[in-house]
Amino acid sequence: MTKVAQRSSPRPTRTARVHASAADAEFYLPADAFFRANLPTALTFDDVSLATLHSDILPRDADTATALSDSLRLHIPIISSDMDTVTESRMAIAMALNGGLGLIHYNMPSKEQVKEVARVKRHIHGLIQDPITVTPELLIGDVLAMIEAKNFSFSTFPVVDAAGRLAGLLSGNVVKDRYRTKRVSEVMTPRSALITETAAAAAKDPIAAADRFFTANIGINKMLVVSPDDRLKGLITASDVERITTEAKARRKPARDSSFRLVVGAALAPVRLPSGALDREKILSHVGALVEESIDAVAVSTAHGHTAGVGDMVKLVRAAFPDLTIIAGNVTSAAGTEFLADCGANAIKIGQGPGSICTTRIVAGVGIPQLTALYVARTAAKKKNVKLLADGGITKSGDIVKALTLADAVICGGILAGCREAPGEIMEISGKLYKQYRGMGSLAAMKAGSAARYGHDKNDTARKATAEGIEALKEVSGSLDDAIDNLIGGVQSGMGYLGAATLPALREKARYIRVSPAGQKEAAPHDVIEVSTRKN
Ligand code: XMP
Repeated sequence: MTKVAQRSSPRPTRTARVHASAADAEFYLPADAFFRANLPTALTFDDVSLATLHSDILPRDADTATALSDSLRLHIPIISSDMDTVTESRMAIAMALNGGLGLIHYNMPSKEQVKEVARVKRHIHGLIQDPITVTPELLIGDVLAMIEAKNFSFSTFPVVDAAGRLAGLLSGNVVKDRYRTKRVSEVMTPRSALITETAAAAAKDPIAAADRFFTANIGINKMLVVSPDDRLKGLITASDVERITTEAKARRKPARDSSFRLVVGAALAPVRLPSGALDREKILSHVGALVEESIDAVAVSTAHGHTAGVGDMVKLVRAAFPDLTIIAGNVTSAAGTEFLADCGANAIKIGQGPGSICTTRIVAGVGIPQLTALYVARTAAKKKNVKLLADGGITKSGDIVKALTLADAVICGGILAGCREAPGEIMEISGKLYKQYRGMGSLAAMKAGSAARYGHDKNDTARKATAEGIEALKEVSGSLDDAIDNLIGGVQSGMGYLGAATLPALREKARYIRVSPAGQKEAAPHDVIEVSTRKN
């Protein structure tokens, strides 16, 4: 190799490197400079792209953990929307198992919503601290009737005597119609034949204790935990332990509370008296019932959160439940964010009109493209130390990455509404499978209860409430696990491109560039015939 050839690929000099980074700094701007430079235009996801940075992390190592308050942490920054075609207990369970959070909608009687929350909280949580018990003098027929009335999916019950002491275990094998005239005391396994665990031994790590117990006691599949005076303190089933142990090896960790139960949130309706004033009693008794079930967050979900009514409702709930995580919205301004923070909210929902089924901007002429709304809200959120949730308009994982450069988590409706876990029937149209997806401001949803969210009264027959959402269909897209895999894979990929090992680092490092219509065309597959490799 000649000397000339060696010089043709020199190492960049320091000056060249400085020029190179000066060019980056001039073209790829951090949030403050970028959103100001684009004034007075408001921008949304497809208007911008993020610049890559030197990276020393692998996407799979990027940590997607986030927090909605000091007490509520999630392993993924995705929340399923409180819409009646997106989140009921089945979706909320699947979201929490994937490390996120589901917000149960409020288009149902409040008692039913409390039950939905209870279904999530009681989903395999290891130690069942308050197991359903039976008494020795009951007939098997009574037990069968109770199972039917309460719709229990299990038939083995600890037996507890009148003094509250463990008397035996009623096995599901004998809870049969043929034994309906027998007493529980006649067919149960008596206390003397039961192997139990002490509350002290199970206290620190109930799952590890149960794991040891089931290995040592072959054939036993219920571990009863008792106090020194033989009172029942809890129950752990072998199948729950197996599922939890499998989950622990899974790629994503479930989001659990401090008692190992899945986390869940619920939306609150701003219920009003005929006078128009908030029905404080009804609201507080409903939140009280949710708190009894150990709800992890409540969401005061309205289309316009910067209002006296929403502020009063947040203040009311905050005063009565000082430690509860409160999400409130929706707003798109710094003043709105500050207002809800001052009222006591921990996390503020940002988004007016970006949703895939929203028509607020068309109907009311109001709303701000989502990225600019997030940027403006963030200026106040930083000052008030509250979290921001980007609510609506997410159609692909890249949108989530962009949203997370300004927000702490995203709320998704449409992108999850086609999943099996979303409520609603699957219908077939011309050989394709669809699920209903409707705006909470659509006429049908408002009739079902969500009118309050849009400042209307569902019983108001004198005046037809104007819809701010549409009724639509989503193609059925498979399981939530697969959907979350794809979305989080994309988020980690984005974090990898920016060299961001954590979400705070992503927010710190993000540099933006404006994309032209030609750039948007370039960003999607183009000039090819796409071949679908999806197996249906
Ligand atoms: P995506 O884009 O995920 O949006 O489908 C879901 C979010 O949209 C909001 N939402 C509505 N907004 N009219 C609106 O203007 C509606 O009828 C409506 N329904 C839901 C809500 O914030 C949700 O999370």
